[in-house]
Amino acid sequence: MRTVLGIESSCDETAAALVTSERVILAQRIASQDEAHRPYGGVVPEIAARAHAERIAPLIEATLADAGMTLDEVDAIAATAGPGLIGGVMVGLVTAKALAMATGKPLIAVNHLEGHALSPRLADGDLQYPYLLLLVSGGHCQILLVEGVGKFRRLATTIDDALGEAFDKSAKLLGLGYPGGPAMERLALEGDPKAVPLPRPLKGSDEPHFSFAGLKSAVMRAKQSGQYADADIAASFQQAAIDCLIDRARRALDSVGKVNALVVAGGVAANKAIRGALEALAADYELDFVAPPLDLCTDNAAMIAWAGVERFAMGQSDPLDVAARPRWPL
Ligand code: KG4
Ligand code: ZN
Repeated sequence: MRTVLGIESSCDETAAALVTSERVILAQRIASQDEAHRPYGGVVPEIAARAHAERIAPLIEATLADAGMTLDEVDAIAATAGPGLIGGVMVGLVTAKALAMATGKPLIAVNHLEGHALSPRLADGDLQYPYLLLLVSGGHCQILLVEGVGKFRRLATTIDDALGEAFDKSAKLLGLGYPGGPAMERLALEGDPKAVPLPRPLKGSDEPHFSFAGLKSAVMRAKQSGQYADADIAASFQQAAIDCLIDRARRALDSVGKVNALVVAGGVAANKAIRGALEALAADYELDFVAPPLDLCTDNAAMIAWAGVERFAMGQSDPLDVAARPRWPL
């Protein structure tokens, strides 16, 4: 059995976790910066980088203490090396490099998106490659064929906003504050999803991609019209987003060969209405549906440690001069 320390700092969560090759999360800690960014309605990169720098060392110490371990008992150190806000990524990666250098343990530079993409395998030991993955977060909105570690085929991406971004921007228009996704989901429960006519951009289109900018603009017009209750706008927005997602996922399933499961990951996968719709879609195609537990959907370090476990098992590690990458497509 191997144990990997994972470090995540690419956006606004500072996180550390210890995960074993037997899929056990020995300990994990997350320090959220929501409060620091809330007054600005979004993540401020400079504030994020400073907060990561202040928190990361005590957070790692506390995570090791939670598991009753010392760094010497860890087999490898994995950290997000991108994509993300570069100041934050550098804090986590440099910390990992320092720990690797001091202990002589291997360093594994993890792509944050690969962390999300492989997280369902941490949660579900039966999930085999290949699977179709919907990666839906604040920064990304992609459909990927996952064929193995480091083996991804991108079938669709967004031509403008990511789905989480659309949730966040629409929430801001309704005065719901940051982060908007969970607040929109709560408000949508009280509204009528058919009350507000909203567009379904690219639904039925021959091209495979997503588009959400037009939906967000329509939310703005609906709000400005003064004709609709906020809860009805939220419910109608969520329904339009689900219709787009399901339409695009159907297209991808029709275009791809045999897969073992339909899998969803990323922060938006925390949305129960979206999970429900995808579960029904999977049943329609007689596929298993796999979604990680909610705390593994949003940014966390267990998924980074797990990607490290999978890479380490293949004998992979990285040199200490590996670069932090603000952009790093899968
Ligand atoms: O994966 P994540 O934590 O960070 C990124 O890598 O982007 O995803 C955060 C995104 C935010 O846009 C947030 O509003 C959205 O996920 N999100 C949700 C829900 N929970 C988080 N969107 C819709 N419904 C939710 N319940
Ligand atoms: Zn993420």
